[in-house]
Amino acid sequence: MAAPSKDDPSSVVSMINQSPPVDCSKPYDTSTLAGKTILITGGASGFGAAFARHWARYGAHLIIGDVNDRVGEELVAELRSSPSTTPNQLITYQHCDVTSWADQVALFKTAASASPTRTIDAVVAGAGIVERGDPLTPSATSPVFDLPHNLDSDTPPPPPPLKVLAVNLTGVMYTTHLALYYLPLNTAPHGDRHLLLISSIAGICPLPGQTEYTTSKHAVMGLFRALRGTAWTTKRIRVNALTPYFVDTPLLPKAGLALLAGAAKAELEDVVDAGTRLMADEGVRGRALCVGPKMRVVDDEGGEGGVRVVEGEGEGREGERRQAVWEVYGHDYERVETFVWRYLFVLNVMRGIKGWVGFLRDLWGILFGGRGRG
Ligand SMILES: NC(=O)c1ccc[n+]([C@@H]2O[C@H](COP(=O)([O-])OP(=O)(O)OC[C@H]3O[C@@H](n4cnc5c(N)ncnc54)[C@H](O)[C@@H]3O)[C@@H](O)[C@H]2O)c1
Repeated sequence: MAAPSKDDPSSVVSMINQSPPVDCSKPYDTSTLAGKTILITGGASGFGAAFARHWARYGAHLIIGDVNDRVGEELVAELRSSPSTTPNQLITYQHCDVTSWADQVALFKTAASASPTRTIDAVVAGAGIVERGDPLTPSATSPVFDLPHNLDSDTPPPPPPLKVLAVNLTGVMYTTHLALYYLPLNTAPHGDRHLLLISSIAGICPLPGQTEYTTSKHAVMGLFRALRGTAWTTKRIRVNALTPYFVDTPLLPKAGLALLAGAAKAELEDVVDAGTRLMADEGVRGRALCVGPKMRVVDDEGGEGGVRVVEGEGEGREGERRQAVWEVYGHDYERVETFVWRYLFVLNVMRGIKGWVGFLRDLWGILFGGRGRG
């Protein structure tokens, strides 16, 4: 069976309801953030805290989970005392180690019960760590994945700690699994169901010396790319992702910052802007945005919406603008192989049948006084 092209109405892109490429040069409406209940893991610091500060200003309800309790509580106190926060705005912090299933369940339960709408509109899987072992002097207390180490050379090394995988992958899988359960419980007419995954430039490029981190972030991209194929069809959940380049947050080890000295980094405000666009624009589904250093670009002459990076000195040429955000992995589902097409086709048919069964049951209830779906 030949896989259809994207212009075909039976194409996989339309089957999974992936939205068109995100045009970051266009404004977006932040008013949709008001009243949204958003759960953020790793929200005490860095991106999560910056999202929380920004979204609180627009009236979102926030449930922040983190292991850094002091910083998390301070952030919540700051947001609650901000003049833009209203008294009925929920802003709360709860200890949550994302590697603990029980902690994450407790966080989701708190979010659902404390939310003024008793539902969760959006989840940000933000918690993450990097490897901090010293490659020059690996030791039992400072292990480095790439350098198996043992003081006694006759015995094999101890198992690698894999802490980064536990936080960045197991933790994100736990968050995702709970989001897939809790978000569909949101049946409010204007409710959203949004899962925002935070990968990294290390999810699309190798980051030597950060093998575990690179592995975990590639895995998050695998999670995103597979899940966007089914999450909307089965549960009306929009799944999007961010893959930022280096940004100066407490995540970056001093050695990493030193290596980046003088080089362009991405800006926190651009990450916040890209994340806010995905959060606020409920029409965006199945899209991943890479946030990098701002580059000078001009529109491509081909007229197909592409841009060309402007090199060299002499800023300010006609039509030139600055761009920090780029779409990645946008074309996965435009041409797929037979298994993917057939699987998603069957899933779509099943959803259609389920919809008809529900409709007929409701109709039966109305006509003959039995119970509908309720
Ligand atoms: N800063 C960057 O350059 C950069 C680039 C790309 C992607 N990222 C990703 O963005 C996310 C946020 O990173 P950041 O830069 O804001 O770093 P950050 O260190 O400021 O924030 C990460 C947060 O996660 C929390 N955390 C760590 N382990 C946890 C656990 N077990 N359970 C719950 N919370 C835990 C930390 O306490 C911290 O508050 C991470 O997933 C990171 O990998 C960061």
